[in-house]
Amino acid sequence: MLEILILAAGKGTRMRSDLPKVLHKLAGKPLLGHVVDTAHALGAAQTCVVYGFGGEAVPQAMADDKLTFVLQAEQHGTGHAVKQALPKLADDGVTLVLYGDVPLTHTATLQPLVEAAQAGQLGLLTVNLAHPDGYGRIVRENGKVVRIVEHKDATAAERAISEVNTGILAVATRHLKRWINELKNDNAQGEYYLTDIIALAVRDGVAVDTHQPAYEWEVLGVNSKAQLAELERIHQNEIAQALLNDGVTLLDPARLDVRGILRCGRDVVIDVNCVFEGRVELGDGVQVGANCVLRNVTVAAATRIDAFTLIDDAAIGEANRLGPFSRIRPGTTLARDVHVGNFVEIKNSQIDDGSKINHLSYVGDTTMGKRVNIGAGTITCNYDGANKHRTVIEDDVFVGSATQLVAPVTVGKGATLGAGTTLTKDAPAGELTLARAKQLTLSGWKRPLKQKKEA
Ligand code: UD1
Ligand code: CA
Repeated sequence: MLEILILAAGKGTRMRSDLPKVLHKLAGKPLLGHVVDTAHALGAAQTCVVYGFGGEAVPQAMADDKLTFVLQAEQHGTGHAVKQALPKLADDGVTLVLYGDVPLTHTATLQPLVEAAQAGQLGLLTVNLAHPDGYGRIVRENGKVVRIVEHKDATAAERAISEVNTGILAVATRHLKRWINELKNDNAQGEYYLTDIIALAVRDGVAVDTHQPAYEWEVLGVNSKAQLAELERIHQNEIAQALLNDGVTLLDPARLDVRGILRCGRDVVIDVNCVFEGRVELGDGVQVGANCVLRNVTVAAATRIDAFTLIDDAAIGEANRLGPFSRIRPGTTLARDVHVGNFVEIKNSQIDDGSKINHLSYVGDTTMGKRVNIGAGTITCNYDGANKHRTVIEDDVFVGSATQLVAPVTVGKGATLGAGTTLTKDAPAGELTLARAKQLTLSGWKRPLKQKKEA
């Protein structure tokens, strides 16, 4: 049985923030959320988070996940942090220790550590760094790991070692419990070091089996906003490369942000500076222009979304044309072959096949039929100051430009509304309805002339 312990009690002083470090977001998700996802992906029977700085903020932020929380009220080192969680861990399992501020470790990198622990060894993840300053060094004798020495406790010769401790390790929980209770804090920092269990394992004849990650960034932690930004780019690049491998055309993989899950069909093309948040699905042949933001959206095949379009919580059908500069708000569904043009806002509305809203309009709380044409500058007046009301526009309606539809109101099938109409009552099917002052001409009327100033 695998149990995973995530250390997340640290303050993260260098973030210069009131938010606990592990709640800062990478790709739209708290750092700790990435580590929790990794724990779930490894099939942990229990995932236990040791929290401290920021009080209940961490358990509250992660309340959705099935996690065990253990408070480490004062931080006396990584060994002390592990000790707080020991009563929660089953004696007959193995424990994998992860860190809430190390978000990008691949499960494939961790798997061999877990296997080593299951085979009765101690699995330890190490990495060789060009600049090992600050890290615990892996001390080997005849090639075998014998202990870890923290940078602050290390001799000059030990500081020359480039193989460092990532902090990530896995071992049988019964060993862990015994060794943690033996730790002392007689070191440069006066802390209980988790790393001291390595020497205890060697003493007890438990072999230390080291593994290294495929990429150095898998074990990088976040201590500052600069490091957070660096890992964000690394992660976004990984997402972009995966999309490219799947056949998605990214006009510039360095200018893409996915904060959630983006699924793409075949022959999808995405221009630069697009942001995808939550769950976004793009069907075959979808094209997304530059600077679009899509959040929790499905887009069916062959739809083209032009530049600067923002779509939020909506379902976009097949072969639509959206944008440039369209805004689609929550609760909207667009059926087939719908056109939505520039400076058009649509909210909580259902638009059926072949309808067109091409310029400068607001359509809210509306049910629109097939083949409707909405003239430029049309507005559904859905809000009376207290309540929202629906507008119903049936099939084949033609709405003239600059029309206001004061809801609740229904426009019958095939009706035409004259330009500039302020519609306050239902318009009958098939007829022309208009509501505007009659045009008149005052013949002989003269424009006023500018009066000459006295010299
Ligand atoms: C630790 C390791 C070091 C390793 C390095 C990798 C120890 C003694 N040293 O050093 O060998 O090279 O990580 O980054 O383990 N934490 C708690 N409670 C505490 C102390 C720490 O939850 O009381 C958490 C922190 O939030 C952090 C992690 O443990 O996420 C590491 O703690 P930190 O103090 O940064 O350890 P390092 O000095 O970096
Ligand atoms: Ca650290």
